[in-house]
Amino acid sequence: MSKTISGFSKLSKSKKIDWIVNTNFSNPENASQILKQYWNTDDKIQQLHDEFIENTITNYYLPLGVAPNFLINNKLYTIPMAIEESSVVAAASKAAKFWLDRGGFKTSVISTTKIGQVHFMYYGDFETLHNYFKTIKSKLISDSSPISKNMEKRGGGIIDIELRNKTEDIDGYYQLHASFETLDAMGANFINSCLEQFAKTFKTEALTFESFTEEEKKIQIVMSILSNYVPDCLVRAEVSCKFEDLSDNPSISGKEFANKFVQAVNIAEIEPYRAVTHNKGIMNGIDAVILATGNDFRAVEAGVHAYASRHGKYSSLTHAKIENGIFTFWIEIPLALGTVGGLTGLHPLVKLALEMLHKPSAKELMQIVAVAGLAQNFAALRSLTTTGIQQGHMKMHLMNILNQFEANDQEKITLTEYFKTNTVTHSAVVDAIKRLRVKS
Ligand code: MEV
Repeated sequence: MSKTISGFSKLSKSKKIDWIVNTNFSNPENASQILKQYWNTDDKIQQLHDEFIENTITNYYLPLGVAPNFLINNKLYTIPMAIEESSVVAAASKAAKFWLDRGGFKTSVISTTKIGQVHFMYYGDFETLHNYFKTIKSKLISDSSPISKNMEKRGGGIIDIELRNKTEDIDGYYQLHASFETLDAMGANFINSCLEQFAKTFKTEALTFESFTEEEKKIQIVMSILSNYVPDCLVRAEVSCKFEDLSDNPSISGKEFANKFVQAVNIAEIEPYRAVTHNKGIMNGIDAVILATGNDFRAVEAGVHAYASRHGKYSSLTHAKIENGIFTFWIEIPLALGTVGGLTGLHPLVKLALEMLHKPSAKELMQIVAVAGLAQNFAALRSLTTTGIQQGHMKMHLMNILNQFEANDQEKITLTEYFKTNTVTHSAVVDAIKRLRVKS
């Protein structure tokens, strides 16, 4: 059982560890040693990581892999991916190579608008509120100019502010619904700072607006926050080829494969149980690149799944069709990303990942990330509709099972060779290790 403690955040890192290991572990020394094993030997790098969050006690590693051979709008990329799940990087690499020989990926950014809202309560006459909003709107924007002037110099800033009446849903509830262009920044801090300034101006100026009654002057600000739902920050990625070029597997013709593939996508479009798993596979690719490039995967996940439900039923993020003998497979997805600010200029591996991608703008990164999602979905559906997912998946999982049994290098070589021609299952691997160890 854990204990309560006050003043924990004020303890030094080693005192925090002492308290944790002594209160929670039967072998405190061993726990402490594991935590310290993951400290970086370079004190400066460790301090950088310590200061990303609060109460840091150690680092949590994820593998950073790369998927080469991505041809996107005729430009080649090696995509960095931070992920713990075996098969994901291998699948992305396979899909990249497959489409490299068929013209690569074509992408475009559809829109880049982000949204933030001031939620407030007002219990008076709507017409008077509307007049107040019209009177005050330009001041809302000009009072925010100390925050927005740098963004404006670069071509971004506040696009518009609308007054939205939500009283049909909640009595007295209104919003200032604002739209923003944040260029290469994800923009959360910029948007939230602007919103808090709008709220301040909106509340203060109401006190001297003559048409308001004394009661109406008392506007209550509930909260000011950006929205992670970004249906107007949208990117599209697509692959296409003649359907006869679609199969490189002699056991299935291009036409048969194309038809089966489209059926699989159609199922994910109408069946939520399948759509969730289908989209999870897409997010395997997307999250891995988002993490590697220091972006906020929780924001992206929340926005993407809301978008997948925008017609009132959870559905596929990808689509496929065959028209005039041409197979086309595409994704349209909302992605609010940044290539400046946040971790992008701080975390050495994030900087490296962005350099690997030729220092992309946010718009370019949106396109690369959408491609990673599409490629991942292509690879998953290709396996699912032909060999089944387990064949490839268990091959990649083999190393995890071998590591679980602390196989040495020679055992790994022998068993990897053996399982090139034998089906990998957990029990088959365990039996094979046992047999090998009995022999030697
Ligand atoms: C596993 O992480 C992802 C898949 O389940 C995706 C899918 O079913 O499309 C293979």
